[in-house]
Amino acid sequence: MTQDELKQAVARAAIDYVVDGEIIGVGTGSTANFFIDELATIKDRIKGTVASSEATAARLRGHGIPVFDLNEVESIAVYIDGADEITDTGAMIKGGGAALTREKIVASVSKQFVCIADGSKLVASLGSFPLPVEVIPMARAAVMRQLAALGGQPRLRTKAGGIEPFITDNGGEIVDVVGLQIADPVALETQINGIVGVIAVGLFAQRGANVCLLGMADGVKTLTF
Ligand code: A5P
Repeated sequence: MTQDELKQAVARAAIDYVVDGEIIGVGTGSTANFFIDELATIKDRIKGTVASSEATAARLRGHGIPVFDLNEVESIAVYIDGADEITDTGAMIKGGGAALTREKIVASVSKQFVCIADGSKLVASLGSFPLPVEVIPMARAAVMRQLAALGGQPRLRTKAGGIEPFITDNGGEIVDVVGLQIADPVALETQINGIVGVIAVGLFAQRGANVCLLGMADGVKTLTF
């Protein structure tokens, strides 16, 4: 199976976690896009969605699926999203697609977090994937110095093929930190959240996944945490 076929298989399996008549939180990225396309086939069963990025909102609307502002919504039954890395305890690195802050916000108000990923995303410990940190632009250099002091090599994410900083949906910039040994994801999440100028860090450990649907060559494996 190709990686896209594995992503499609977990996206299809995630439909079993959609709660009829409820609001569904929807993540961002290539795996989440497969999920959106699957969700379109049962759109009449749900009340609507909350999107974790402008790109996701546009894809949902393109399918005729209602998208609510989070401020209009009291609760979200389930949040379904991909990950860049996930451990066997449900801690994740996310933000490869730069949507980490809104992903964290939507996940934080969701009753359940279902991670959908191809099997290559399961790791023994987090940190091979560069850790994304969204920052207020004026604080970029100051935050980068503090991230370097933690032992990583911070790099400003730029627009494809250029030197201009990549700008997020929130007007922030992304610093990707290479080379961190993440032995204690919860502690590191707390530490980086405490740096003034950080909007959010792409460590999802304090609020990790409840379930992970992993696409493997021999089928979809379900991990529960
Ligand atoms: C988006 O900001 C990310 O958190 C994605 O969920 C993550 O990068 C996984 O993306 P893919 O599904 O494209 O691998």
